[in-house]
Order: sequence, then structure tokens, then C-alpha cells
Amino acid sequence: MSSQIIIAIDGPAASGKSTLAKLLAKRLGLLYIDSGAMFRAVTLAWIQKTNGHKSEADAQILDEILSAFNIEFLDNSKTIVLNSNDISTAIRDNQVSQLVSYISTFSGVRSKLLDIQRKLSSDQSVIMDGRDIGTVVFPNADFKFFMIASPLERAKRREKELAKRGERINIEELAAQIEERDRQDSSRAIAPLKKADDAIVIDTDNKTIDEVLGELLMRVSTTQTSN
Ligand code: CDP
Repeated sequence: MSSQIIIAIDGPAASGKSTLAKLLAKRLGLLYIDSGAMFRAVTLAWIQKTNGHKSEADAQILDEILSAFNIEFLDNSKTIVLNSNDISTAIRDNQVSQLVSYISTFSGVRSKLLDIQRKLSSDQSVIMDGRDIGTVVFPNADFKFFMIASPLERAKRREKELAKRGERINIEELAAQIEERDRQDSSRAIAPLKKADDAIVIDTDNKTIDEVLGELLMRVSTTQTSN
């Protein structure tokens, strides 16, 4: 194995990818890159221009946004800066969550972000989470995980996250929104949400964060020693 290590973590919405990716990155001393934050950043910029109203002009509007799109990931993706503005909190708004799947179907958006994702990882070891990391972005990743959890468990997690920021949405509504996002992400033509054939499925239902972290660390260290 080369000294550069790439770990890809994919899975549906709120399956625990980013929490675990962050912890794993810390334990292994790798850079964590949140690819979903990039799609959220484009979506936020598009909402600011359009008030969230979809139209035939969207491909062009998105091209304009992407032509001046300077995104920075500071402090292991804790702080996301777009064109000098800290958007770390705004990209987690539920309005962004509801529109991001639409924005991520545009080929111009995907190709620009793919470029950024590969450049960020060109000369260093990284853990990246998203929907197409093991299938499209890094088909040759050293480790590929696909995290899953039941729709109810995922809705509960998202409810807690939103409550912390003062957004209250009932759990049935959240579950419906999450399922709709997964449906859109799985059925799009370009780079859909899909488990790579060689990805290891990690079911996070009824497991503590520490248990899942232990499982990931075990997989990584076992494979490294056996190589
Ligand atoms: O954290 P959460 O599971 O809510 O989602 P995220 O990772 O922040 O991703 C937000 C959205 O960005 C997804 O629902 C996808 O529509 C899109 N996305 C994508 O298309 N490809 C990726 N590699 C990552 C995210």
C-alpha cells in the first residue's frame, strides 16, 4: 500500500457518516473532508440568489455561482468558508437539506465539485464522506465503508441536531423528508447514492458511537496488518 491512504464513507442521509468520519480522522491523524458540505454550500448560494424557487434558468445560475466558488475547509471541516464568509451554520438549515438533492443532480455542479474533491486529496491522506465517494470520486480508495441506519433512527438523530440549533420539526415530517432525499439521491442519473461493490456495510442502528468507531478501527487495522 502507498503511504497515502484514502478512506471513503458513503451512506444515506443522517446515517452517522460525518460523526464517525470525524472521529476516525482524529484517531488516525488524517484530514477529514465533508463532501456534502460542498453541495450544501452551492445550494445555499443558489437559495440566496433565487429564494429557493426552481426555474429553467437554474443550470445557468449555478454556472455563475460555480465560476466564483472558493470553498475552504478549516479545522478538519468544522468551519466551512465560502468566498470569505463562514457558512458552517447556515448550510445545516433545513431549507438547505430539502433543496440540496435537487442541486446535486446538475452535471455542472457535480463535475466542478468532483474536481475540488480530487484536488484536495491529491497529495495527502484523507477520509471523505458523501454519496459517491467509493463509487465515483475514489473508486480505488484503500477502505470503503457504507453506513446505514433505519429511517426512524436517522430521523431521531436529525431531530436532535436541529433542536440544538432551535429548529423544531416533528419526527414524522423529518423521516418523510429524509426518505425523499434518499429517494432523489439514489435515483439521479449521475453519481447516485449507491454502495460500491467492495464497500463494507456498517449498520449503526442500536450501536453507540464508540461501538461503531471501534468497528471501523478494527477493519482498518486488520486490513493494514494483513497487507
Ligand atoms: O449529512 P447529511 O447526511 O444530511 O447529508 P450531506 O452529507 O450533508 O449531503 C447533503 C446532500 O448533498 C445529499 O443529500 C446529496 O444530495 C448531496 N451529496 C452528493 O450528491 N454527493 C456527495 N458526495 C455528497 C453529498
